Amino acid sequence: MADWFKPQNDLMPKTTSREIRLASRPQGLPTADNFSLAQVELAPPQDGQVLVRNLYMSVDPYMRGRMNEAKSYVPPFELGKPMEGGAVGEVIESRAKEFKLGDVVTSSYGWREYLIASPKELHTVSREIQPLSVYLGALGMTGMTAWAGLQLVEVRAGETIFISGAAGAVGSVAGQLAKLRGCRVIGSAGSMEKVMFLREECGFDIAFDYKVGPVIEQLNLEAPDGIDVYFDNVGGESLEAALSVLRVHGRIIACGAISGYNEEKLRDGPSNLFNITAKRLTMKGLMVLDWLDRQAEFEKEVGAYFKAGKVKHKETVVHGIDKAVGAFLGLFQGQNVGKMVVELA
Ligand SMILES: NC(=O)c1ccc[n+]([C@@H]2O[C@H](COP(=O)([O-])OP(=O)(O)OC[C@H]3O[C@@H](n4cnc5c(N)ncnc54)[C@H](OP(=O)(O)O)[C@@H]3O)[C@@H](O)[C@H]2O)c1
Repeated sequence: MADWFKPQNDLMPKTTSREIRLASRPQGLPTADNFSLAQVELAPPQDGQVLVRNLYMSVDPYMRGRMNEAKSYVPPFELGKPMEGGAVGEVIESRAKEFKLGDVVTSSYGWREYLIASPKELHTVSREIQPLSVYLGALGMTGMTAWAGLQLVEVRAGETIFISGAAGAVGSVAGQLAKLRGCRVIGSAGSMEKVMFLREECGFDIAFDYKVGPVIEQLNLEAPDGIDVYFDNVGGESLEAALSVLRVHGRIIACGAISGYNEEKLRDGPSNLFNITAKRLTMKGLMVLDWLDRQAEFEKEVGAYFKAGKVKHKETVVHGIDKAVGAFLGLFQGQNVGKMVVELA
């Protein structure tokens, strides 16, 4: 092609995109003031790049940790810069041979309406599976966390598993997968509506509202013979109760501890940690990032369950990037049933 005929990038129309930035670091529970909404003009993609319009973005509890300055397993969000997180979008302009218009991709460039990316930053998914937001939930990072957790401690048929935060994105999939493995599944969640969702839609054997009475009392009542496995999404009181109720050689999947994410001071640990010794318990830390080399295996197994209707993807959807901060803050008030997602387009 003659040079004069090539599209000149600076003459091509720019794309207007809105994005959420970290405005300040929170002390305790974040507020809307810790975020700002900005509008940017994106230059057209260069050779080897694509322009993606985000359809859905994820809000997740782990993002609270990234708002702090402290180093962790992922770097902190930078002040004044757009936040990051899971997103699913469609390619609307491609200058990369790997992608064509209409391809559906996931990326870690959520919290914005459009992005320019290179192929290695994108993961292609099938448009045939709907809703596409499932790639942020049951068939995405949170579903994979649930799947990996059960593998981590080798959950077996006939075992009793207790899952806290059970009506959320990880918990609801963990419970359904544990049922498919032949377990007896007990879940706790923060409202009667969630308890009914666990019992009636997710097939949990038992579910209780952890807000109506001490977890230890409810767990003793529902599992008088003890539990084999505890899937910990919450920490705090639930972890302490599980330590008491676990049987000899029981296992704990240490997945999350949301009850402490907004605490300003480090809290005391479980008072009954000696149960680990007395009952020869195993507590294993779970990090979904460690399992990325098994993503295809996860997608095959859980994708087949999803297509067969054996695993349901429940979600709470809010609409528009201007509602994303509210959706994120809502996680800490239990406003979601299943995966909290933000629809952007
Ligand atoms: N290790 C990993 O690789 C990994 C990966 C993904 C997620 N995680 C962790 O897994 C857990 C669940 O994540 P998710 O994405 O599935 O979130 P989620 O459960 O969908 O949403 C958060 C839920 O946590 C509950 N919650 C909020 N504050 C609480 C408190 N003070 N005490 C007890 N429960 C509280 C709320 O439900 P209620 O109404 O029931 O209170 C809320 O709906 C989190 O701890 C997260 O950090 C770990």
